[in-house]
Amino acid sequence: MSTVLEAIKPIEEYLVLTDEEIATRIEAAREELGSRVVILGHHYQRDDVIRHADLHGDSYQLSVLASQTNAEFIVFCGVHFMAESADILGKPNQQVILPDLGAGCSMADMASVDQVEDAWDQLAEIGIIGGSRRVAPITYMNSSAEIKAFCGRNDGVVCTSSNATKLFGQYLKEYDKMFFFPDQHLGRNTGAKFGIGLDEMVVWNPKEELGGNTAEELDNARLILWRGHCSVHGRFKEWHVDKIREDVPGVKVLVHPECTYEVVQKSDLNGSTSYIIKTVEAAEPGSKWAIGTEVNLVTRLAKRCPDKEIHLLAPDLCMCATMYRISPQSLCWAMENLVNGEVVNEIKVRGVTKEESLIALERMISMSGD
Ligand code: 13P
Ligand code: SF4
Repeated sequence: MSTVLEAIKPIEEYLVLTDEEIATRIEAAREELGSRVVILGHHYQRDDVIRHADLHGDSYQLSVLASQTNAEFIVFCGVHFMAESADILGKPNQQVILPDLGAGCSMADMASVDQVEDAWDQLAEIGIIGGSRRVAPITYMNSSAEIKAFCGRNDGVVCTSSNATKLFGQYLKEYDKMFFFPDQHLGRNTGAKFGIGLDEMVVWNPKEELGGNTAEELDNARLILWRGHCSVHGRFKEWHVDKIREDVPGVKVLVHPECTYEVVQKSDLNGSTSYIIKTVEAAEPGSKWAIGTEVNLVTRLAKRCPDKEIHLLAPDLCMCATMYRISPQSLCWAMENLVNGEVVNEIKVRGVTKEESLIALERMISMSGD
């Protein structure tokens, strides 16, 4: 009698196949599974993966698509926190599959729920939480389900780079202070859009008492920003902006808001991955763009818009190594195992974490209003 493990096809079998064989087999598996499967792909996925996606989008769009599909299997070509969100928003009978479990996000790993709870308790001890002030926790989508659940049970919300401005606007009307995790840059850039000065923002370092701040600094702050960042977007520097403006006269600089405050301030425009795509696609033929985001998106956009001059803002490769973990081989492996009735690499969020994180995600979707 064969065991479950024996029934699962090993990934090694796929590593020796040619690119063409892999592509043909992915399509054959999809054909066989029909409407039982949907393949979702984030904009940062490589070309040889994204070509197989039924639907693509930024992290917000993918979460909405996951909540709307009726497919039995959602094969998620993105990173772990995105697949988790798809499972939280999906229907009870659906199963979410991440073709490579190594596809994480280093920024999301910079905040654990224990650290966040400890920070919240420290703020309560000095009277910032639980006193007369209203404090809201807001987490970037790039965080664990446990942190989303923390926000769900504390009147907070999840946001993405495409709706952060809208959600901050609504929360700032009702709350005196916001605690934002884990991307300090998105938090700072979004706060600045509302005229919040840098002197009204403090950074919370989870390794230090009171996050490395005094009680007075925390009391005066409008925004408390978790000390996290994206290593990919952190590679764009101010001098890149100066250099490209010098080298390419008339260039417009368009960056993702995970870039530092200084880079965003020097740029012409900033927004989510979908915003970047829409802006460039709608731009005048002949216009010149320097884009500060992940290289796979930028090179694909350059191919799709040959009538525009498109540069990657930094000369070195700004690639998200964990997004890149999703390969045609791992996608083919996951799909063919599904055909054989084996669900591999399922991402499942359970119990109270699922219920409470769903509150924060649904709050995000309803507040986004689209
Ligand atoms: P988007 O919200 O633009 O999809 O960005 C997600 C992300 O991880 C960017 O690094
Ligand atoms: Fe995470 Fe940065 Fe990769 Fe986005 S680009 S998934 S934030 S490491």
